[in-house]
Amino acid sequence: MLGLPGPEWILAGNGSDEILTMLVRGFVGEGQRLRLPHPSYILYRTLADIQGASWEQVAFDHDWSLPAAFSQSDDALRLVLLPNPNSPSGTMISPGEVAAMADRLDCPLVVDEAYVDFADENCLDLVRQNERILVTRTLSKSYALAGIRFGYLVAQPHIVAELAKIKDSYNCDMISIAAATAAITSTDWLADIRQTMVATRQRMETRLSGLGFDVTPSQANFLWCRHPQGRHEAMYLHCKANGYLIRYMNYADYGDGLRISVGTDAQVDACIDLLQQWLEAH
Ligand SMILES: Cc1ncc(COP(=O)(O)O)c(C=O)c1O
Repeated sequence: MLGLPGPEWILAGNGSDEILTMLVRGFVGEGQRLRLPHPSYILYRTLADIQGASWEQVAFDHDWSLPAAFSQSDDALRLVLLPNPNSPSGTMISPGEVAAMADRLDCPLVVDEAYVDFADENCLDLVRQNERILVTRTLSKSYALAGIRFGYLVAQPHIVAELAKIKDSYNCDMISIAAATAAITSTDWLADIRQTMVATRQRMETRLSGLGFDVTPSQANFLWCRHPQGRHEAMYLHCKANGYLIRYMNYADYGDGLRISVGTDAQVDACIDLLQQWLEAH
């Protein structure tokens, strides 16, 4: 499937959140530290807190690149987590840059590829080249199977073998394994979902930009956008009152914006019509 040597490179889990939990439990002890970019997936901080560990955030630059501080090594640092594509921005750090970051770090770098099937590139090949690069994947997004709970880690076999010691004995049930196997082997289905999503994402981007939104080019199945008028929360509430749920995000030290998932063409049009209606009325 992945052009990798065999199952000893893979650890399956109850969603990729469970894999992330195992990684933090395995690598970051009490009093030690993990690093994450900001704004990004908020679960990482919770996992550090549960562990009695600390966390530090390195802010993305305004073009969603990461400063050198993100890959600076230091003694207490035990794990670095990078959602790639990132949420909420949908932006990506290129595999070349990820490889360079891992070279600078002394600890593992987890590349969380939850949204990678919607992107043009991925970091899977890097796993072979550097034992410090660990890639997590999920069937929750591109396969639309969040309900069956199946995610996996790709890492060098000695890492997988150690992490397997701390997983629950039966962390994946037969139903999720059967469903995941059927989904992963159905490559046409994934290609269809991807193609439709990319076309709709493009159309959404054009329409939202036409309404004056500043839309960040996305490699994921959502768009991060901000309007010069601000008042994103009011826009979110207007959509919600009319039956359309988009995400209103408000980050300390960063500001707020809307993360809008790519739905069906009809859903996307109805949702953007609501935003247009709100903007015309205000
Ligand atoms: C960046 C990122 N990683 C991982 C996950 C977890 O996905 P799951 O546990 O469903 O595999 C999510 C879910 O929202 C996510 O946004």
